[in-house]
Amino acid sequence: MGSLTSIYVIACVFLLILWGNVQPTVENKITANYSGHLLSEVPKNISVHTQILDLSHNRISEISNLEFISLPDLQVLNLSHNLITELDFSVFTFNQDLEYLDLSHNNIGKAYCQRLGHLRHLDLSFNKFTILPICQEFGIMFHLEYLGLSAMMIRRSDFKYVTHLQLNTVFLTLEDFSLYEPLSLTALNTRSLHIVFAANQNFSFSLLYDGMITSENLKIVNLRYMLSHKYFPFPPSELLKKIKATDLTLETVDLEWIVILQIYLLVERSPVEHLTVRNLIFRGPVVELAEYKFVSLLRSLGQLLSLRGSMKTLTLEHVRNKMYYFNQKILYRQFSEMNIDSLTIYDAFMPHMLCPEKPSSFRYINFSHNALTDLLFQNCKTLANLKLLILHRNKFESLSKVSLMTSQMKSLRYLDMSSNLLRNGGAEERCQWTDSLAELDLSSNQLTESVFECLPLNINKLDLQNNQIGSVPRGIAELKSLQELNLASNRLADLPGCQGFTGLEILNIEKNLILTPSADFFGSCPSVKELQAGQNPFKCSCELQDFLRLERQSGGKLAGWPEEYVCQYPEDLSGTQLNDFHLSELACNTTLLLVTALLLTLVLVAVVAFLCIYLDMPWYVQMLWQWTQTKRRAWHDCPEERETVLQFHAFISYSERDALWVKNELIPSLEKGEGSIRLCQHERNFIPGKSIVENIINCIEKSYKSIFVLSPNFVQSEWCHYELYFAHHKLFSENSNSLILILLEPIPSYVIPARYHKLKALMAKRTYLEWPKERSKRALFWANLRAAISVKLPRSFETNEEQSDVMSNCNITQPLIK
Ligand SMILES: *[C@@H]1O[C@H](CO)[C@@H](O)[C@H](O)[C@H]1NC(C)=O
Ligand SMILES: *[C@@H]1O[C@H](CO)[C@@H](O)[C@H](O)[C@H]1NC(C)=O
Ligand SMILES: *[C@@H]1O[C@H](CO)[C@@H](O)[C@H](O)[C@H]1NC(C)=O
Ligand SMILES: *[C@@H]1O[C@H](CO)[C@@H](O)[C@H](O)[C@H]1NC(C)=O
Ligand SMILES: *[C@@H]1O[C@H](CO)[C@@H](O)[C@H](O)[C@H]1NC(C)=O
Repeated sequence: MGSLTSIYVIACVFLLILWGNVQPTVENKITANYSGHLLSEVPKNISVHTQILDLSHNRISEISNLEFISLPDLQVLNLSHNLITELDFSVFTFNQDLEYLDLSHNNIGKAYCQRLGHLRHLDLSFNKFTILPICQEFGIMFHLEYLGLSAMMIRRSDFKYVTHLQLNTVFLTLEDFSLYEPLSLTALNTRSLHIVFAANQNFSFSLLYDGMITSENLKIVNLRYMLSHKYFPFPPSELLKKIKATDLTLETVDLEWIVILQIYLLVERSPVEHLTVRNLIFRGPVVELAEYKFVSLLRSLGQLLSLRGSMKTLTLEHVRNKMYYFNQKILYRQFSEMNIDSLTIYDAFMPHMLCPEKPSSFRYINFSHNALTDLLFQNCKTLANLKLLILHRNKFESLSKVSLMTSQMKSLRYLDMSSNLLRNGGAEERCQWTDSLAELDLSSNQLTESVFECLPLNINKLDLQNNQIGSVPRGIAELKSLQELNLASNRLADLPGCQGFTGLEILNIEKNLILTPSADFFGSCPSVKELQAGQNPFKCSCELQDFLRLERQSGGKLAGWPEEYVCQYPEDLSGTQLNDFHLSELACNTTLLLVTALLLTLVLVAVVAFLCIYLDMPWYVQMLWQWTQTKRRAWHDCPEERETVLQFHAFISYSERDALWVKNELIPSLEKGEGSIRLCQHERNFIPGKSIVENIINCIEKSYKSIFVLSPNFVQSEWCHYELYFAHHKLFSENSNSLILILLEPIPSYVIPARYHKLKALMAKRTYLEWPKERSKRALFWANLRAAISVKLPRSFETNEEQSDVMSNCNITQPLIK
């Protein structure tokens, strides 16, 4: 047992491998395609290994013996739509692999036979053969499946060579047809028979009858019969017992109504299960006669044959009526009383149909593309078996009437009312759907939101596409079973919630007017698996962020994402995919924005406060301002005096409390003697009309050096500190060591306030002259100081203070302080 299973498995695997190997070679055949190349003969240079050769739609009129000799691998040859008149099958003698040979649509009138053992498909249809080109050699084409033929006459003996072949399809084209010997076709052995009759001749009905005896699947094109129905050849009654056909298709039928009826009666009592009639024109004599004939015929046939037909499906497509005085009731009655499963009457301008008189067997009715109105099947109790009703593209107007129509159809599951003129009436209109209805198509109508008040309660799938629905009202009757809802191409401005349909799984809301879809959708619709919301005019703004978040959370439930979700507003974002649209959290969250702004302001205030209180910033700023102002004024007043004119050797800055020492010791010591050092002291050299600050700046500017008398008093005096600041500023701007610090009394560093960081830095960095307590050292101190500041001031100064020269001739001694 086990070994058997394993052998079986191995065999399967082997077959799979084999299949895997064979499959690609089937598809990669070497093809040469010369279709439509205006060739008048077969090209000489076709590749030797060609397997598929398409020479269709050319002007080839002759095939000589040598043409295909050099193509030993040829499997498919298409020579259709050429001008070949004579055919000698021996040209294919060396094409032993040829399986598919299409010679249709040529002018072949004569064929010389030759054995072509491997042919599966041979098409000689639409040619000019007088008699069927079936020769003895056809009898040994055992692989033949498809045989296409053409002829002007068919005689009983014509098929004798192929009678024993089991064919799949025989295709007969009978243009210019002149003769048919009855029962000729019955010699054929084929599953499908397809006959194209002459378009302009009276149809030979024996072909129909014999075709029905011959094959299961019969298709006949061009059934026209202009003769009166009186000459209509009635089918022999023994025929009915021999009919094999189960599928019958008649195309391009133009017959008298009576003839059609007789054919129908024949078919109805035959094994035919599916009858399809396309492009049907019925004409006929006047009503009374038809009525009479119909009734009598029915009676006589009914008595004649007690056979029960097996027809299940009748399909009529594109039906035109050329009977002008015509009692349509007879026709409707004929259809409505049919004992079949499915009835299609498509594109027939049919304005009405009657309710069957007794319980009907219809399960499927398709009356698409007609002129049916609200009157159809009202109060009709006999359609209890009907499961599918398709009324697409008719003239229905009232939804409530449609619902009433279904109310008696106890089995109806599917109703297609698409492309009608449906609108829903006022509240007074009653809706009463059958409980069985599970699927309803109301697409392409004129329904508005009140449609939700008139829906079948057990509906499963509802299509409301392409209507005028502006919203899904709340508080509608609950549709518990609704799983699929299509609201595409309406006028909805937002996603509907699922209050009315809690089980919804698929929602389509494409092509509406949704600018910003509400983000609570998946919250209110827990069962939704797929949401199609693309192709809406999305407005890409902050509100949309929530929806984008929703997309991220939904786990791929948005169908068509991202390519169908595109911003339309604002203009500058139009065309951007929602996927590529990003706004920062800050831009959209007002509270966050306010808090951030507040925090920033607080920090700024704190920094400013720190600068003001701790570092005395405003003062520095103000002073700097003054400084630049003074500079600027100086610049403007005498542009030629760009360079600062030095008038003094030094500017002295000191605390008022140290004034005694300065006046008694410093000034006298420096100004006496032959060196005659000039000192600028802001009290002494004060220029009236200028502010103190300007005076100080002035003094510093005009002095070669600045002397600072440092002491704890100095540190406590603000002015002094500022003077130091300016001097230091000058120091930097002119890049020279012009500061001289005299430490009058030691200053413990804790005494210096923290904000005098500049002073601190200077004290730390520079050496200073210390005022010696011992008298003996003082001489050296003065000498040092003198040396540090002694410079030769411009001579002109000593005579004229207005004119000045620059420091060019200054003899600057080595500064004391490094
Ligand atoms: C050859 O080309 C034509 C179009 O030019 C096409 O219709 C036809 O199918 C091609 N034939 C084959 C065998 O591919
Ligand atoms: C065969 O020859 C014709 C001209 O004679 C040329 O147009 C065609 O491309 C050739 N085909 C091949 C497959 O060489
Ligand atoms: C041969 O050409 C005709 C017309 O173009 C086409 O209908 C038919 O399928 C072609 N046959 C093959 C085998 O390509
Ligand atoms: C078909 O029948 C009509 C009506 O009798 C006749 O006039 C017409 O000649 C017939 N057509 C052919 C081709 O025999
Ligand atoms: C109704 O009949 C038409 C014509 O046969 C067919 O094309 C269409 O698909 C049918 N509709 C349905 C829903 O079966």
